[in-house]
Amino acid sequence: MNLKNTKYTITAALPYANGPLHIGHIAGAYLPADIFVRYLRLRGKDVAFMCGSDEHGAAITIRAKKEGISPREIIDKYHELNKSTFEKFGIGFDMYHRTSAPIHHELSQEFFTNLYDKGEFVEQESEQYYDEEYNQFLADRYITGTCPKCGHDGAYGDQCEKCGSSLNSTDLINPVSTLSGKKPELRSTKHWFLPLDKYQEWLEKWLVEGKKGQWKSNVYGQCSSWLKAGLQPRAMTRDLDWGVDVPLKEAEGKKLYVWLDAPIGYISATKQWALDNGKNWEDYWKKQDDPKNDSTLIHFIGKDNIVFHCIIFPAILHAHGEYILPENVPANEFLNLEGDKLSTSRNWAVWLHEYLEEFPGKEDVLRYALASTLPETKDSEFTWKDFQTRNNSELVGIFGNFINRALVLTHKYYDGKVPQRGEWFDYDEEIIQSLSTYPDLIEEKITQYKFREALAHMMEFARLGNKYLADTEPWKLQKENPERVKTIMNLSLQIAANLSIVCEPFLPFTAEKLRGMLNIKAYEWEKAGSVDLLEADHTINKAELLFEKIEDETVDAQVKKLEDTKKANTAEKPKVEAMKAEIQFDDFMKMDMRIGTVIAAEKVKKSNKLLKLTIDTGLDKRTILSGIAKHFSAEEMVGKQVTVLVNLAPRPMMGEVSEGMVLMAEDAEGNLQLLQPGNKVNPGSTVS
Ligand code: MF3
Ligand code: ZN
Repeated sequence: MNLKNTKYTITAALPYANGPLHIGHIAGAYLPADIFVRYLRLRGKDVAFMCGSDEHGAAITIRAKKEGISPREIIDKYHELNKSTFEKFGIGFDMYHRTSAPIHHELSQEFFTNLYDKGEFVEQESEQYYDEEYNQFLADRYITGTCPKCGHDGAYGDQCEKCGSSLNSTDLINPVSTLSGKKPELRSTKHWFLPLDKYQEWLEKWLVEGKKGQWKSNVYGQCSSWLKAGLQPRAMTRDLDWGVDVPLKEAEGKKLYVWLDAPIGYISATKQWALDNGKNWEDYWKKQDDPKNDSTLIHFIGKDNIVFHCIIFPAILHAHGEYILPENVPANEFLNLEGDKLSTSRNWAVWLHEYLEEFPGKEDVLRYALASTLPETKDSEFTWKDFQTRNNSELVGIFGNFINRALVLTHKYYDGKVPQRGEWFDYDEEIIQSLSTYPDLIEEKITQYKFREALAHMMEFARLGNKYLADTEPWKLQKENPERVKTIMNLSLQIAANLSIVCEPFLPFTAEKLRGMLNIKAYEWEKAGSVDLLEADHTINKAELLFEKIEDETVDAQVKKLEDTKKANTAEKPKVEAMKAEIQFDDFMKMDMRIGTVIAAEKVKKSNKLLKLTIDTGLDKRTILSGIAKHFSAEEMVGKQVTVLVNLAPRPMMGEVSEGMVLMAEDAEGNLQLLQPGNKVNPGSTVS
């Protein structure tokens, strides 16, 4: 990637405001984006770093329903939590916006209208799945089934998160409503489709030809195979009651597809930021008269978002015509935790807000541990043991140890003043030579989105300093050759100052602390590699520890917390049948239930299920056939009191007529119990 351009528009996927953030989110998109942006800023670039809450779609309404509160309460709660969590973790967005904001609704509608007016949409009446029990169309996460592409069982109506394919809900095999758990019906409804097939040719040119060798192979490979399979039209509207209204009279009550409005959220966030800061948002999003002045757009996302950022959103931007297109979409794969997939529903996660509370002041330790295991080319894994080792052997053992020795000796020998250096020895020259190569190595890897390797080079740089002190042993030389020691300490302090620059993208809190200790301002990246960052006689501040050892108990407690979660998850939870659709009080009052006494019972011939009971209902003595023969013998039924639905219309069964129904309690495994009064009551007593 060339860094010619001065303007950069960097986006990180807008997380759904339906739950807290965990380390998988961070490793997928936010930490890589933040490292990249911090590097660009050190390079003096004009950067707009945009993110915010994705507040529409079924992710939100399903969560609201589950918690029994309104979607508004859900998004307000998690927007605030996630915004402050990012801030505390040092993810330095310029704007953390929200898609419920009016400015976002307006811009999304403007996009829709722009495309509509150009005739880009195809209007189509089609059959969509409908849940009759819940009286609602089943879009996106309201429906699951088997993915027709990869066979994964939990694919959603719009996408399979396993293989990344985008789907139409009617493509699903064995579709099931996530509301009622039942097989849905089809009903006709009108929607506006984006004919992606129409952009196929353009996408092949722009992406398959244009991005070859530039995009990461996991991203490029997925995109080209979808294009090879051929793109299908996709509905951009939904029958839902939460989201951005479709700005058409004839579409009343319909909303925009969440994946149409969400990426536009990057633009509306920029608009709001520009308004607040006296900038022009169009500089960051629109094609400029001279293409050399175009901003460079880069989307940081996780792999389940690839199709939306590489195919659908670019097609929309292209159809609109005035917008720049992404230069790159460096999507990451998934992060696993302690040998298992991260999962919100199973609570198998390290929640960022909990980490921040439990490990105050250790933001950079987690940033370091995650950056060293980012799932850049394939899925990777976080373990607490690795977290501890990274901290103890690398941050404490190398980086922290080096800085501490350099600063403590400077105070001890020179009262905290940078010593004047003398002549360089060969070994010093070697170190200087090496030192000057690290910033370029780190930079090269960052601009290739290889953040793990960049981080490894940063740590090698610290290791160089550590080794220099260990090899030259100034503490042994000080008595006999103090002049030589001055040179060694001067160079060590120059390395420390260099580290304060190059560690900033990865360890921003540490960089700041280190600058404070060295009593220096923040330098530009350009200065890194120099041995003249600190002048002789410059006074440094007190040395403090940058990192502390993490004990076994601490990480063991975290592992135990996870193990407890697993135990709780696997403990037998009694299964319970889903609730039926709501009824009115009058519906209930129509049922006439009485306590009756069984006065005779016999098996029904040719049936192994049915008992024929004669019941004194208080109103009359009648015959009721009941499917309880497998659970109760005829003999033991006689004399029992039971609950009877007495006004059920008589039903013929096995050559007899059943005049009512005996009520039972039945669990999900099919175990039956009679519903009996606690004490004997008169037959005919009402039940309500
Ligand atoms: N909310 C989506 C998710 O968590 C990501 C949206 S990215 C967007 O998968 F910006 F395009 F909205
Ligand atoms: Zn799939």
